[in-house]
Amino acid sequence: MPATCVIGLQWGDEAKGKLVDLLAPNYDVVVRYQGGANAGHTVVTGKEVYKLHHVPSGILSSQIQNVICPGVVIEPNMLIQELSGLESRGIHPRRNLMISERAHVVMPWHMIEDRAINKTVVSGESIGTTNRGIGPCYRDKVGRTHAIRMADLVSPQLSSRISEIVHAKRSLLAPLASPEDIAQLDAEKITSLCRGWAEALGSMICDTTYFLHDQLDEGKKLLMEGAQGSLLDIDHGTFPFVTSSNSSGVGVSSGSGIPPSSIDRMIGVAKAYSTRVGGGPFPTELLDETGNKIREIGREYGTTTGRPRRCGWFDAVAVRYTARLSGANYLSLMMLDVLSHFDELKVCVAYELDGQRIDRLPSQADTLRRCKPIYETLPGWNQDVTKVRSIEDFPSNARKYMDRISELVSIPLGVLSVGPDREQTIFLM
Ligand code: IMP
Repeated sequence: MPATCVIGLQWGDEAKGKLVDLLAPNYDVVVRYQGGANAGHTVVTGKEVYKLHHVPSGILSSQIQNVICPGVVIEPNMLIQELSGLESRGIHPRRNLMISERAHVVMPWHMIEDRAINKTVVSGESIGTTNRGIGPCYRDKVGRTHAIRMADLVSPQLSSRISEIVHAKRSLLAPLASPEDIAQLDAEKITSLCRGWAEALGSMICDTTYFLHDQLDEGKKLLMEGAQGSLLDIDHGTFPFVTSSNSSGVGVSSGSGIPPSSIDRMIGVAKAYSTRVGGGPFPTELLDETGNKIREIGREYGTTTGRPRRCGWFDAVAVRYTARLSGANYLSLMMLDVLSHFDELKVCVAYELDGQRIDRLPSQADTLRRCKPIYETLPGWNQDVTKVRSIEDFPSNARKYMDRISELVSIPLGVLSVGPDREQTIFLM
C-alpha cells in the first residue's frame, strides 16, 4: 500500500484532519501537497484541540515524518507561530518536519493584494477569500517573474531579488492598495524579515521530492493530506468561486511530486450535510431555521477565519461528481451526530434547471446558481449517536440514510464519524 490520499469531496471543512490523525499511525510519512494557511485542520486528542494550518496532521506523533511539498504556499510568519504553538504544548515539530525548497512563499505583498481585491465582484458576487494571500501567491508562481520560493530565502541573491520585486510590486499595487499598505513594501525591511524566516525554518528546508521517491523505493507508506475540498478545485470546482490550487484528487501528484502510479487508495471525505464558506453557488443552502440549527449543532464556524459557514442538506449530485473526479474508493462520512436532532432529512438527488431534471454538476457558476435541488426525504433518527462504536449500533434510520448516500454517490462507506474525538469513529474499510 504505497500511498493513500484523504480528499475532501465538498467545499472544504469535511473534518479531514481528524481522519488523517487517526490513519497516520499506520503510515511512515504524512504529506501536505497543496493550499496553505487558508486550510484549518482540527485534531482533537482527549481534551487537547490542535488547529493546524500548514503543518501536516501527522505531527502529533514523533514516529511519523511530516512533509510540506512543492505545491503548498507557505506564509512563514504563520508557520513559525504554528511551530511555536506546538512546541509550547510539548511537541517537537522541528524534529520530524521537512519543507520543500520548491514551495512558494506568501510574501507581504500577496497579503496586501488579497485584501485589496477580495471585495471585487466577479460573476455577481465576491469570492470571499480567507485573506491569506493564497490567490496572489499562486498567481505569481504561475507568472514566475515575481515569485519567491523557500530556497530563495537562504540564497545569497535574496536581497537583490527582493529589491527587484518590491520595486515592481509598489507600482503594480499602487492603484489597488492604501498608501499605508504600499508604505509597508520596504525592500530592506522585507529582506530582514526573510532572513529571520530563513533562520527559523532553514534547517527544515530540503528537496522533499527526492525524499518521497526514496521513501517509496524503500517500501514506506505515505498518507497524502488534501486541503480544502474538490468543489474548490481551481480547474474542476465551481469556478471562479474556488481556491487557487488543485484541491481534488487530481492535485496529489502535481503538488507532491509522487507519480500517480504510486497512489493506491483514495478516501473521499464528506460531511453528512453540506457547508460552504465564502461566496459562490450552493444549491442546497438552507437560509432558514434548519440551516441555523445545523450551524449551531455542528459548530460550523471557520477554523481559519471564524466566519459562520453556510449550511445545507447533503448534495449527492455534487459529491457523485467529485467522487469520480478524485477517484474515491471509499466514502468517509463525517459529523453524523449533527443530524441526530431532525425529524426528517433531505438529500439532493438531482437538480431542476429550466424545467429539466439534470443529474450532473454544471461547469458554469451562473448555471449552477439557477439549479434548484430535487430532494428525496428520509426519516430522521432523533437519537444520540455519539456513543455508537459499531455499524450495528446505529439506529436503523441512520443506517438507511448512510446507505442511501453511499448508493447515490456510488462508493462504499469506509469510515463513519459521530463526534470530534478519535474514538468516535467507526472503520468499515
Ligand atoms: P482562498 O483559498 O483564501 O483564496 O479562498 C477562496 C475560496 O475558498 C473562499 O471561498 C474560501 O472561503 C474558500 N476556502 C479556502 N480555504 C478553505 C478551507 O480550508 N475550507 C473551506 N473553504 C476554504
